[in-house]
Amino acid sequence: TKIIFVNPEGEERIVDAKDGVSVMENAMQNGVDGILADCGGACACATCHVYVDEAFAGKLTPPSDMEISMLEMNDYRRENSRLSCQINVSAELEGLRVHTPESQY
Ligand code: FES
Repeated sequence: TKIIFVNPEGEERIVDAKDGVSVMENAMQNGVDGILADCGGACACATCHVYVDEAFAGKLTPPSDMEISMLEMNDYRRENSRLSCQINVSAELEGLRVHTPESQY
């Protein structure tokens, strides 16, 4: 499944992502900058924060209470903020665009 990571400068990095694992893990495996994932995917650090393209907002599973509270503590939060370790890649998400926040560089 193709996932497009867009950095704050607007540069795109297209990754051929593995289904069944998170967007964060796919970013790690492909050396994508801007996703730190300090907690390793436990929904506890919020350094895997991304902004999801509006077009895909409806295709993602809604955030858990824990994810919401982690995002609420994040100063860079926007309406389309998600933690990329909580987004599971599937064929449905083909062409998903996520923007990495400036704060993670
Ligand atoms: Fe820590 Fe996602 S990797 S919250």
